[in-house]
Amino acid sequence: MIQCVQRMLYLSVLVAFAACNAPPVPLDDILIEKTFVPEQCVRAVKVGDYVRYHYNGMFPDGKKFDSSYDRGSTYNVFVGKKQLIQGMDKALVGMCINERRLVKIPPHLAYGKQGYGDIIPPDSILHFDVLLLDVWNPEDGVQINTYHTPSTCSRKVEVSDYVRYHYNGTLLDGTLFDSSHTRMRTYDTYVGIGWLIAGMDQGLLGMCVGERRIITMPPSLGYGENGDEVESSGDRMDASRLHPRPPRGLAPTATHPQRCAVEVRRVARMH
Ligand SMILES: *[C@@H]1O[C@H](CO)[C@@H](O)[C@H](O)[C@H]1NC(C)=O
Repeated sequence: MIQCVQRMLYLSVLVAFAACNAPPVPLDDILIEKTFVPEQCVRAVKVGDYVRYHYNGMFPDGKKFDSSYDRGSTYNVFVGKKQLIQGMDKALVGMCINERRLVKIPPHLAYGKQGYGDIIPPDSILHFDVLLLDVWNPEDGVQINTYHTPSTCSRKVEVSDYVRYHYNGTLLDGTLFDSSHTRMRTYDTYVGIGWLIAGMDQGLLGMCVGERRIITMPPSLGYGENGDEVESSGDRMDASRLHPRPPRGLAPTATHPQRCAVEVRRVARMH
């Protein structure tokens, strides 16, 4: 009996010793540590989504081999379409906007036996610290979330109505790119006749005076493929379609879905 206990002790000491001295545990699959989880997750990444994220790529000893922050631009890519190493394709699925993950990827789901140039040696385990900024899907339409409805509504916005409204335009991670409040006047425009970006033309329809909505749109219904930069340098007709028109340089680009918090102040027919 005593012998048996001793042996078990001996064994457990051996195991502990082995664990402390082992090289980085060879992983069968990726490991995900969620280092920041936002309170709300409006949407989690699915295969086929287009995402924008920042990352630091490190070896297990912490040495950095690549970083989107150093390049000063996010990494933008479709998920699950083999545009990424397998481990990242798996690691991004289920992520929420503003969520942060530390992802550990075994060599066979990264650069394998070959490695990558002189940057990644053969058989390297890679760690990525990932921060997701936004996600959308080419199939997305305009999403409307009404969060305040006035008690009475005598009139709802229809196509070709003239409306006055306040808005805050943000990217999905919350970055504000434009607001009518900073100009201290409402945005006044016709609705539904192509004066506005398509997402706003659709999203304003049916609103009552005093109603508040969040209108979320993919880039294709927002500022389009080129963001605001190109359009505003184009002819005047194009520029007049822009809404909300962001300050130069802060314009959303092709890869940024947009979100607009709107409050309608007035609805009228002009003719
Ligand atoms: C925009 O944001 C400001 C500041 O948070 C807020 O006071 C205002 O009500 C918002 N406007 C809309 C239309 O959501």
